[in-house]
Amino acid sequence: PSLEKEFLPMYFGWFLSKRSSEILRKAGQAFLDELGSLKAFKKESKYFPSVEDPKIKIDLTSYFVKRPPGVLHCTTKYTEFGKAAGAEEYAQQEAVKAAYGKGFTLSISALFITTKTVGARIELSEQQLLLWPGDADKILPTDNLPRGSRAHITLGCANGVEAVQTGLDLLEFVKLEKAGNKGEQVGEIGGGKLLYYNNGMWMLVLSKKIDVRAVFSGYYG
Ligand code: 2AM
Repeated sequence: PSLEKEFLPMYFGWFLSKRSSEILRKAGQAFLDELGSLKAFKKESKYFPSVEDPKIKIDLTSYFVKRPPGVLHCTTKYTEFGKAAGAEEYAQQEAVKAAYGKGFTLSISALFITTKTVGARIELSEQQLLLWPGDADKILPTDNLPRGSRAHITLGCANGVEAVQTGLDLLEFVKLEKAGNKGEQVGEIGGGKLLYYNNGMWMLVLSKKIDVRAVFSGYYG
């Protein structure tokens, strides 16, 4: 008699400690607060329709209303309980099995917003890249971006936007970078160098990376 097929999670990923989640949420909040009161940002406020008077402040916290409850995470593979393409193959990899339940330190290099999402960009180490699926770093099938380009933590989404969008938005930044668009350097704000890529795409490159503690595991819903 064969055993029941292994039950796969909704997704695999790194789940931040409560403390690290709080630190990153605070950094994200400070970024939104500072950005919303910045003159250069208010000039481009048309991308972020707000109930407040944009001349005073753009309330980005209420703009990105959908925020992940509980601890934050970085999705590695969205397996959809085994239904997603490549789910079984991913779960069966030795690196994935060996890392399951283990602790990691993830390095956050930037915070970004678009008209749809706000997120944190992660720079994965060689060892962490072993857990990164081969098919994740694409918007179009023809995209050829460095492995781990999509690695991120969703901090919030605008009304009607699903979390999956954050990774796609980060890939848009990476595609622009790859095409030689380094963004317009708007200046230094708390935490780092602020870049503007037009169309409501802003990135804060942190002068000091934020290290967060996380456990590699699966989320079953
Ligand atoms: P996120 O990784 O950008 O936050 C549950 O929906 C989690 O799985 C969310 O964290 C979400 O996005 C991620 N997710 C949902 N659909 C996905 C997909 N098709 N590909 C990759 N990640 C997905």
